[in-house]
Amino acid sequence: MHSITLILSLLSSQACAHTFIWGVFVNGVDQGLFKGIRIPAYNGAPGGGGYNNSPVKNLTSIDLRCNVMGDIQAPDTIKVAPGDNLTFDWHHDYRNGSDDIIAESHHGPSLVYISPDPPTENSFVKIWHEGLYEESTFPNPGKWSTTSDLRLNGGHMNVRIPASLKAGHYLIRAEMIALHEGEVSYLKNPVRGAQFYPDCVQIEVTGDGDVALPEGVSFPGAYDYDTPGVVYNVCTPDPLAGTTAC
Ligand SMILES: *[C@@H]1O[C@H](CO)[C@@H](O)[C@H](O)[C@H]1NC(C)=O
Ligand SMILES: *[C@@H]1O[C@H](CO)[C@@H](O)[C@H](O)[C@H]1NC(C)=O
Ligand SMILES: *[C@@H]1O[C@H](CO)[C@@H](O)[C@H](O)[C@H]1NC(C)=O
Repeated sequence: MHSITLILSLLSSQACAHTFIWGVFVNGVDQGLFKGIRIPAYNGAPGGGGYNNSPVKNLTSIDLRCNVMGDIQAPDTIKVAPGDNLTFDWHHDYRNGSDDIIAESHHGPSLVYISPDPPTENSFVKIWHEGLYEESTFPNPGKWSTTSDLRLNGGHMNVRIPASLKAGHYLIRAEMIALHEGEVSYLKNPVRGAQFYPDCVQIEVTGDGDVALPEGVSFPGAYDYDTPGVVYNVCTPDPLAGTTAC
């Protein structure tokens, strides 16, 4: 109980903390508050001499893998079987129906990767993604994964554990990417740039599957400042007035 109290008091001191995973459902069954989750560490406000994490914008930082201090193991691991349906329960301030999940301006894609744990070179394999799934028409920004799907569906992000996946310890890296300031790269303008919200979950795959993961990508490393989608303007042009809406 002590650790939960500590966690909650740490979280409540972080009003600016954006979105992260508060729980995991396996085939619809809640595994419990922060079970198996490497909770992002927040250790200071921007410019305050501390280390601002929320969000991660530096694409070469280790924080892009599992968020700040995300290489530190969580005390527990979630047991799953190949083919199981995992639902990551993303929230912003509270894990209940009053929560906004992510700010409504934060349009962008969501992605899920899986890697053997501990990760090695090019070990993260993407198993799900969702981006812009309905085109924009001024002044409507279109339907983006973060703001139209996850935000309006209680923060639930669903993915299946690959069928016949070999037993063992794996790390799931789930992320949302907010592009509302993504019209320029963080490298060119450090006060803007795409905002990454990665979060990792420790799982143990059981069973007698015989499929190993193919080669994937590394974090950091997978994304560059000129990777399509890292610099992207989510504002919708008004063809008549020459203005935009975000
Ligand atoms: C996975 O489980 C969630 C409930 O936790 C459900 O909403 C979703 O439809 C399920 N997805 C699949 C593909 O079965
Ligand atoms: C980004 O992270 C790398 C690796 O930690 C570091 O060397 C670099 O100074 C950081 N860049 C910025 C702009 O913070
Ligand atoms: C959610 O939790 C917050 C903080 O504890 C509380 O103020 C709010 O009333 C809760 N909302 C619901 C729907 O339970």
